[in-house]
Amino acid sequence: MSYISIDSQRERGKISKYIYGQFSEHLGHGIYDGLWVGPDSDIPNTNGIRNDVVSALRAINVPVLRWPGGCFADTYHWTDGIGPASTRKRIVNTSWGSVVENNHFGTHEYFELLKQLGADAYINGNLGSGTVQEMSEWVEYMTFNGTSPMADLRTANGHKDPWQVKFFGVGNESWGGGGNMRPEYYADLYRQYQTFINSYDADTPIYKIASGPNVDDYHWMDVLMKNAAPYMDGISLHHYALASAWEDKRPALDFPESEWFSLIKSAQKMDELITKHSTIMDKYDPQKRIGLIVDEWGSWLRAEKDTNPAFLYQQNTIRDAMIAAITLHIFQKHVDRVQMANIAQMVNVLQAMLLTNGTKLVKTPTYYVFKMFTKHQEAIAMDTFDNLSDTTSASVSKNADGYFISLCNFGLSAPDDITVDVDTAIKSVSGTVLRGLRMDDHNDFEHPDEVKSEEFSTTSFQPHQLKAQIPPMSVVTLQVNTNK
Ligand code: AHR
Repeated sequence: MSYISIDSQRERGKISKYIYGQFSEHLGHGIYDGLWVGPDSDIPNTNGIRNDVVSALRAINVPVLRWPGGCFADTYHWTDGIGPASTRKRIVNTSWGSVVENNHFGTHEYFELLKQLGADAYINGNLGSGTVQEMSEWVEYMTFNGTSPMADLRTANGHKDPWQVKFFGVGNESWGGGGNMRPEYYADLYRQYQTFINSYDADTPIYKIASGPNVDDYHWMDVLMKNAAPYMDGISLHHYALASAWEDKRPALDFPESEWFSLIKSAQKMDELITKHSTIMDKYDPQKRIGLIVDEWGSWLRAEKDTNPAFLYQQNTIRDAMIAAITLHIFQKHVDRVQMANIAQMVNVLQAMLLTNGTKLVKTPTYYVFKMFTKHQEAIAMDTFDNLSDTTSASVSKNADGYFISLCNFGLSAPDDITVDVDTAIKSVSGTVLRGLRMDDHNDFEHPDEVKSEEFSTTSFQPHQLKAQIPPMSVVTLQVNTNK
């Protein structure tokens, strides 16, 4: 049994829509075949970008897309990806399987994708193997309005108007694949590189993000904040949910009960990580100006059989839906610090929203959680009084019509009877449920609709109280209308 009490006066703060951000890297079939098929493909596309993928993603309100990596970002030289496709440099993707990268998806194609999605840009720059000049000129190429060498080059390549870059990351995982740096060294480099990331339009300054710690590396956070806090708007954090040790990735399907719970426990660690990193940030930034940007999160499982292990292609089950709901709830608990998060990764890689195979497309259970939670975007997170069962996670936000409640029962067999008290009179309630019957229920290309959201009607209410039974292995959302 669980209990939630909503007091209309107890607000935590606005839930940034950017918490629902996405990430796509030049990795496996994340970009090529997943998003980009090229204008000459038989797969229906608009300017090379798959129509089915865009249409599915528009329904989840993608607010921001991080690109081009990840690890790949610190090997990416942006000039390789501009100009006529036929003359673009073919490079080796040393980060992900040493396959040929033909650079057909570059800066122009990325902004075309953003336009089709209605999303903002989060570019991750190359600090690991790129120069200050290269990073600075990329920003000039994308954003300078007027005559300049890079703006002229952009115009010559077919785009006269500048684009807006909302977020810019300076290096990726600089403690590891991004250069194996010590935090003191990275802090100095960060200060240097960010100096030349010019915000040419004073009305839309670029939000600069430093490469933050790996999981629980609190020393990295402390050194960065101590030495570079005034120069950053955000600092990143990466944490993946693992069912076992990092070296022993567990299967996405056909797993034992113990791995249902170990994966969930690993995802729940996000709460501790954010709490502890925020405490360090508070020392140097008590006003909480600087955002903690969780720009890589999600489940990391074993790559599917008969796929290239370097492509990180994994199936996505109702367990992943639990991971998504639990983690999004944690972010909403920490709205004072978490200003953006980007699940890894949007299509065909790790905990994806969508899987594609030729002309086919599958929406994953994770996709449905993002779809069900869209009403949380830009709503006010409520500071509720909760007494939840050990296997229930919940979050409540306030919107123009009343309250939006999301619940996740990650127990395997018992439903959870929940009571919600509300200090304003309830006029109506509507609900949606995503539920599994087996631990590895999922959608595949032969059975694309095994797991999908449906109307949820097992609720009852009186003016100030609502009751519902949350099935095991389910995510439920309830819109509680108090105004009409
Ligand atoms: O998301 C896959 C990889 O995980 C990213 O490229 C890297 O930043 C992280 O280690």
